[in-house]
Amino acid sequence: MRIPPPRLTAFADAALDRSLVLGYTRIGPALRRRWWPADPEPGCLDGQRVVVTGATSGIGEAMVTLFVSLGATVHVLGRNAAKVETVLADVRRALPSADLVAEVCDVSDLDAVRAWCDDLSSRVDSLQGLVHNAGVLTRAREESAQGHELGLAVHVLGPHLMTERLLPLLGADSARPGSVVWMSSGGMYSAGLRSTPDEIEYREPGKAYDGVRGYARTKRMQVEVVDAWNDRLRGGAVRVESCHPGWAATPGVTDSLPGFGRLMGPLLRDAASGADTAVWLVATRPTSAGTHHFWHDRAPRPTTYPVQRRRDPVARRAFLDHVAAATGTVWP
Ligand SMILES: NC(=O)c1ccc[n+]([C@@H]2O[C@H](COP(=O)([O-])OP(=O)(O)OC[C@H]3O[C@@H](n4cnc5c(N)ncnc54)[C@H](OP(=O)(O)O)[C@@H]3O)[C@@H](O)[C@H]2O)c1
Repeated sequence: MRIPPPRLTAFADAALDRSLVLGYTRIGPALRRRWWPADPEPGCLDGQRVVVTGATSGIGEAMVTLFVSLGATVHVLGRNAAKVETVLADVRRALPSADLVAEVCDVSDLDAVRAWCDDLSSRVDSLQGLVHNAGVLTRAREESAQGHELGLAVHVLGPHLMTERLLPLLGADSARPGSVVWMSSGGMYSAGLRSTPDEIEYREPGKAYDGVRGYARTKRMQVEVVDAWNDRLRGGAVRVESCHPGWAATPGVTDSLPGFGRLMGPLLRDAASGADTAVWLVATRPTSAGTHHFWHDRAPRPTTYPVQRRRDPVARRAFLDHVAAATGTVWP
């Protein structure tokens, strides 16, 4: 097949992205795979170790199979031990040689995250991939074990703390340093950054909790945290990226957004397509990483559009301070 010239494909790719429906649904990868970068080489993750959180459903579960197919040892992390065992059994049925390790941790519980990171660090010498994929969208405001808004805890605080605690493992093998990928959402484009502790925790007096809004806010926060991680690790070997999966048919969509799931129905991509870019980022460590950290369908994407509010450095500082205080960490 003839591949169109790069400027034409860049234009077509951006047009698909801005249209949302064409880019985010199964139409996006169906067109883009004609020009997007090559698939990871078979066996390219042989002997490498990857952790996938939220691996008991949807995109995370599909990601386990994709990583195994590339040769990785995959640590399948979920909050429910029985579900983790089911995923292990299902993947082994399809791929009998799969090297899988069951991991149980509620990523919203910061004490559990600390304990699990210490435990993993006592069991393995290095880590080449860490995908923060676990996600929630609740109708009512819920709180984590430490009293944080649940979406904030699952999407931001737990993953930030996990990245901090696993950084030594991620940098341990200088020949194969690690990549951390945060699974955000295109929904983050609709949300700005909040600056007061009450706003960050979605505890605003007189304002009812809106689950979709809360979800978009914490997905925006993920991208801001990854920005800060990039500032922190610039020039280092460990990479920290964010991406979004488009719109994929998963229990997360059908259970949390049934109306959207019905509306988009056959246009939704499958879970493996939603998982593709995160796997590709870990497997190939693309060279433009470091300048662009937000990816979709194997290409860097803007984190804001020009029509959106300018970024507010005061809000960003206040938000990062809140993350540090909540997790007992320090931004160097
Ligand atoms: N599907 C889409 O179209 C779409 C679009 C944009 C972004 N995303 C993002 O992609 C990621 C995966 O979404 P999905 O659609 O595959 O959702 P999903 O089917 O609901 O899967 C979410 C996974 O996260 C796990 N999880 C939730 N809270 C957890 C916690 N506290 N500790 C550990 N694991 C936890 C769930 O565990 P249980 O099995 O125990 O519930 C499940 O394995 C999420 O971050 C989501 O925000 C998805």
